[in-house]
Amino acid sequence: MAYSAKIGPSILSSDLSRLGSECVRMMECGADYLHLDVMDGHFVPNITFGHPMVECLRKSVGQDPFFDMHMMVSRPEQWVKPMAAAGANQYTFHLEASTNPGNLIKEIRESGMKVGLAIKPGTTVEELAPWANHIDMALVMTVEPGFGGQKFMEDMMPKVSWLRSQFPSLDIEVDGGVGPDSIHKCAEAGANMIVSGSAVVGSEDPRSVIALLRTVVAEAIQKRSLDR
Ligand code: DX5
Ligand code: ZN
Repeated sequence: MAYSAKIGPSILSSDLSRLGSECVRMMECGADYLHLDVMDGHFVPNITFGHPMVECLRKSVGQDPFFDMHMMVSRPEQWVKPMAAAGANQYTFHLEASTNPGNLIKEIRESGMKVGLAIKPGTTVEELAPWANHIDMALVMTVEPGFGGQKFMEDMMPKVSWLRSQFPSLDIEVDGGVGPDSIHKCAEAGANMIVSGSAVVGSEDPRSVIALLRTVVAEAIQKRSLDR
C-alpha cells in the first residue's frame, strides 16, 4: 500500500500575527505537513493571504516543512508560478474553480509542485474521478470552505470510501471539522491525509492530538491491508 497516515495542521486557526512560530510549533509537535489556506474573498466569502506570505513563511521555517496550498480562489491558474517560486510543495485547487483542469494539472507539475484536486460538499466524486489518475491527492471537503471551526459533515464519507475503493493508492485528504471526535469516520472511510485546524491548533496539547489522529488513521490503513 503506497499511502501512509499524515497529519497536516491548518494554521488558519492559529494566531496569524505569529504565523512563522506557529508553523514551527506545529512541526515540533509532530505535524507531517502544513496545510495553508489561501482565500480570495471571491471563491469563498473570506480572505487570508497569498504568495508573499508563503515566501516569508518559507524563509522563516526553512526548507523542510511540506506546504500543501489549499487554493480557495476563483482563478487557480493565476497563482501557480508565484506559489512555486514562493516555496509551495503542493498546489491543491478546486475543481469548481477550474475551466481546464487538465491544463492546470500540467502547469502545476511543470512548476515542480505536486497536484491536489479539491471538491466542495456539493460536488460529486464522479466529477473528480476522471482526473484521479493524474493527481497526487484528492481533497474531499467536509465543510463548506471559507472558515475554520465548522461542524464536520459526516455525509461526505461515502465520497471518501468510493475514492478509496476505486483508487487504492491515491492520497485522500479530508478538511473541515476533523478532530478526535470525527477521525474514526475519516479513517474508516479511507482518508490518509488529515487536515485539522481548531482541534489541533486550539488544543492545550497539540502533540497528543496529532499523535492520536495519526494512530487512528494508521490502524485503519493496517486493517485495510490485512483485509485485502
Ligand atoms: C476551511 C479550511 C480548513 C479549515 C479547517 O475552509 O479549508 O482548512 O481551516 O479548520 P477546522 O479543522 O477548524 O475545521
Ligand atoms: Zn483547507
